[in-house]
Amino acid sequence: MAADGVLGVVLAGGLGTRLNPLTAVTNKHLLPVYDRPMIFYPVQTLVDAGIRDILLVTGGNNAGDFLRLLGNGRQFGLTHLDYVYQEGEGGIADALSLARYYASGKRLVVILGDNIIADDISPFVEQYRQQPRGAKILLKEVDDAQRFGVAELSGDRVVGIEEKPARPKSRYAVTGVYMYDARVFEIIDSLEPSARGELEITDVNNDYLRRGELTFDLLQGWWTDAGTFESLMRASYLAAQQRGWTPPPARG
Ligand code: DAU
Repeated sequence: MAADGVLGVVLAGGLGTRLNPLTAVTNKHLLPVYDRPMIFYPVQTLVDAGIRDILLVTGGNNAGDFLRLLGNGRQFGLTHLDYVYQEGEGGIADALSLARYYASGKRLVVILGDNIIADDISPFVEQYRQQPRGAKILLKEVDDAQRFGVAELSGDRVVGIEEKPARPKSRYAVTGVYMYDARVFEIIDSLEPSARGELEITDVNNDYLRRGELTFDLLQGWWTDAGTFESLMRASYLAAQQRGWTPPPARG
């Protein structure tokens, strides 16, 4: 079913410095994950959720290559694909702020350009569309929560989110799929840069939490980011397995 009145936003800015020297030659989100460029995965996740209008935020030296690769988005069945350029690396919330002009009051389903997700997120998007206001995040239980935003849960409520805590209060990582109403832009306007000089998406989510307007769901299938050498390799491995590849026996 088409998710009318929803704008999909793929955030593919930032400089990808953790993947140097790979990112010295191209944008992180154009690197291969198994048999296709990384950016295809988050775009396909939105398309599979019925989203037909997408804004891609990118930056760095290779921004033009996204246009060459994705064009007007017809290969994905998109109605609109727009592009906007983020200067520098001001953070995920800074990248999202560039969607303000395109959103024109619509609800947003945001996905980070380096997130690869096995699940069909349609049911979560549909539930969010029924939610009167506020935000929804998607969580996944992981073994290395300290690498992510981490949600502390009490029953069916999120009671706090910490960005990359040294001692995580739970195993629930905040994945890079976020759903927001149009007030997200006012919230971003009120943010101060964090210690690492970025406008943090965790601060946006905690603002909705304080208003009592943050819901969550749990991803059931595998999820990974692809922003480090290890996670990039894992992403390729998982994507290949999902398409039926089985690892060959080691030659002794
Ligand atoms: O993958 C999920 C995690 O993503 C969350 O659990 C964290 O709460 C969230 O902060 C984020 O953490 P990372 O440290 O992995 O974010 P990273 O800086 O690697 O950026 C992830 C993507 O966000 C990147 O592939 C493109 C987009 N981005 C990032 C920055 C810093 C932008 O579009 N612009 C930016 O300035």
